[in-house]
Amino acid sequence: MRYVFLGPPGAGKGTQAEMISRKYDIPHISSGEMLRENVTAETKLGKKAMSYMDRGELVPDQILIRLIKDKLSSPDCSKGFILDGFPRTVVQAEALVSILHQLELKLDAVIYFDVPFEELITRLSGRRTCRACGINYHIKFKPPKDKRVCDKCEGTLYQRDDDKEGAIQNRLNEYQRRTKPLIAYYRKEGLLITVEGGKEISKIFEELCRIFGVARYE
Ligand code: AP5
Ligand code: MG
Repeated sequence: MRYVFLGPPGAGKGTQAEMISRKYDIPHISSGEMLRENVTAETKLGKKAMSYMDRGELVPDQILIRLIKDKLSSPDCSKGFILDGFPRTVVQAEALVSILHQLELKLDAVIYFDVPFEELITRLSGRRTCRACGINYHIKFKPPKDKRVCDKCEGTLYQRDDDKEGAIQNRLNEYQRRTKPLIAYYRKEGLLITVEGGKEISKIFEELCRIFGVARYE
């Protein structure tokens, strides 16, 4: 199973990828999470990426391409993966083609999460993330038992800096300008499957499990 999850910020890519990864026991590769780990560890890469992320802008392509290439080349990705948040530009999509070609692998499909724009703002502003394991909650749609503590690992929950108002708008603008063209790109490649992402979390999960059983391409 080799899938890309594509969609705007707040579309539910991370939520579904985490559930699918557990059900099918394949790695969930979140580019945003990998960058946040580098920021927390104060690596050179993390220091470079942080200013872009806090402003809600995309981090330069070459940084992401190197990061994902190393990850996909690791043995734990040999039986499959869910790529969440990469590629996000046409340059990244083309780099992914050449990375997979070198590894003699092929994508099964690209799942596009189609969600109304107003819903994205509600989802992002109410999201809370675990500092320890990175799992996402929502104060209304997926509330943790204790609003400050992760149900799974008891880590502290926090609001991402880029989930604050100014950064949300920038992220949505970046999506429109630089990521949305990938919908047409993957449709042309015959790899795109659109999922109605405005539904309940459990309904979308059921649909994804169906798709993974029998892939339907547009
Ligand atoms: P990243 O962490 O990837 O953020 P994003 O794409 O903006 O996506 P989000 O994580 O915000 O949304 P999601 O779709 O995962 O939604 P989630 O499941 O959490 O990237 C962060 C930054 O890193 C970027 O801005 C950029 O700077 C940099 N970056 C990362 N990748 C890059 C790349 N390839 N190139 C360049 N820069 C890169 O859900 C959101 C909320 O809604 C949660 O609270 C959840 O509980 C709730 N929710 C989920 N599904 C539903 C539902 N069906 N109904 C109701 N609520 C729901
Ligand atoms: Mg995410």
